[in-house]
Amino acid sequence: MSSAPTPETHTGLDSPAGVWWKPAHRAEKLWVGIAFGWCMVLFAMMPLWHLKGGQNPSGIRRKTDPAAFMKRTQEFIAQYKVGTDRGIPVVEPPPGSDVYLAGLTFQWTPILRLRQGAEYTLHLSSLDVNHGFSLFPVNVNFQIVPGYDYGLRVTPTAAGDFRIICNEFCGIGHHTMVGRVIVTDSAGREVARSEEAR
Ligand code: CUA
Repeated sequence: MSSAPTPETHTGLDSPAGVWWKPAHRAEKLWVGIAFGWCMVLFAMMPLWHLKGGQNPSGIRRKTDPAAFMKRTQEFIAQYKVGTDRGIPVVEPPPGSDVYLAGLTFQWTPILRLRQGAEYTLHLSSLDVNHGFSLFPVNVNFQIVPGYDYGLRVTPTAAGDFRIICNEFCGIGHHTMVGRVIVTDSAGREVARSEEAR
């Protein structure tokens, strides 16, 4: 007859075996100190980056409904239309104005002609599902959400012919959802894509 060793059992009521209650080792204290210090740095960076980083845009966010946004975008197009490109209206709003850009399956409308160095308030919204606004070749990315008007103060810094690529999967035509932004030079002339923008 063999006697099997009795398995050790633990409940939350028993203190675990070991030396955990002894003071922590110096190295452990040091690591806890470094981790805590780094947490505080990251915590401070959140507000600092918002104010100083130039990374998080300070925009206007407003509730809207897709029908109202579409109506406003159509009014904007009618007001400043200067042409069309493959059926999409090309719009040249004056510097300082409110600019409307709608994402819908599977296009961006209208095509914007903006001027380098001028400030605009760019309103972005979706007329149906979530889309992603990605300005190519510049690394600018925003979520375009139906029901929200995302107003950004933008000043184009480089002239050129830019593409808006949808970077949020939105359906079968997602990969074809490409828009266009033309930035003219400060005299209002179209230039080839700027080297600076690459
Ligand atoms: Cu719109 Cu993907």
